[in-house]
Amino acid sequence: MPSNTLSPPGPAAVLCGLAGWVPPRVVTNDELAARLDTDDTWIRTRTGIRSRHVAEPGQATSDLAVEAGRLALRSAGGAPADAVIVTTTTPDRPCPATAPVVATRLGLAGAAAFDVGAVCTGFVYGLATAAGLIAAGVARRVLLIGADTYSTIVDPLDRTNAIIFGDGAGAVVLRAGRPDEPGAVGHFDLGSDGTHEDLITVAAGGSRQRSTGGEPTHAERHFAMRGKEVYRHAVTRMAASARATLEQAGWKTDDVDHFVPHQANLRILHSVADDLGLPRERCVANVDAVGNTGAASIPLALADAAAGRRIRPGDRLLLTAFGGGLTWGSCLMTWPELPPHPHP
Ligand code: UT7
Repeated sequence: MPSNTLSPPGPAAVLCGLAGWVPPRVVTNDELAARLDTDDTWIRTRTGIRSRHVAEPGQATSDLAVEAGRLALRSAGGAPADAVIVTTTTPDRPCPATAPVVATRLGLAGAAAFDVGAVCTGFVYGLATAAGLIAAGVARRVLLIGADTYSTIVDPLDRTNAIIFGDGAGAVVLRAGRPDEPGAVGHFDLGSDGTHEDLITVAAGGSRQRSTGGEPTHAERHFAMRGKEVYRHAVTRMAASARATLEQAGWKTDDVDHFVPHQANLRILHSVADDLGLPRERCVANVDAVGNTGAASIPLALADAAAGRRIRPGDRLLLTAFGGGLTWGSCLMTWPELPPHPHP
């Protein structure tokens, strides 16, 4: 009998490079409190954030992405990638995508290059996309960069959002390998619910607003979030997604050495850990120092934890994200041996 399988299962995507980059300028809670009706205690107790990094005027998402991408390629040994994915909510322009210019500036002109948009879930969606490219034999080595400059879309006078978000970029290199190798990413759970598209929005700049012809208002040009509702969805959706991924892999909660969630708000991360029955110490968090950096948050948290030797080779990781859309996603991996964290 001939086999119905057209081709054998393709290779797995194996993490072999990692780096984070944040713009040097640090904005503390006190600096925000000097111009907004807020204070350090409110921000720390409600979000766990102490400071965040902010891009300079003139600095765009691609500038951050190039810095993180260069370091990640160096960390992976310097070999070129044949595909570049940028995941972002703050592309340089509505058109074209940000990835091609990033690829070219990294010396990768000619590589496949495109953006993935899933708001703060973008990095996990990007990992699944990269894994798909590698499994299909379309690419052997993928550079995936999560980068966001929320400072360009958040109204600086909006105290609810200005305190949460920071700018940054995190990047990984994935190579074709075996599914049982340390560093192989898998057991993805991805989901969405568009009935709640209005919970996190930038109303203007897209075809919906442009089709009406009128000039957008100040509010429509800026990021808007219904924080309380988003908070509730974030906790329930992240916990459900994490569970679905663990079940798929046959892992128990106790098998997870490190839970690496999207850094939305420390209270959200702890609530999800509590819901899963994971000790809070296993939750990797750097939101205190960088805030919520959108699509960059998981790779930045990974880079910080790996640089601090908190995550070690052989450790088992659960990555879970949630964002506008609504979107959510999770996956699992065992941490590989990586070269020392590269410095700029
Ligand atoms: O990354 C994508 C997903 N995003 C998230 O997961 C974010 C989810 N949401 C949150 O993290 C939280 O909802 C926030 C941090 C945005 C807000 O925290 P909260 O505990 O939900 O506060 P709240 O919106 O219920 O506001 C409580 C009070 C309000 O005052 P009243 O109405 O009780 O008098 C707000 O006006 O706190 C007030 N408030 C502030 N006070 C001081 C709101 N922002 C501030 C502020 N400083 N910055």
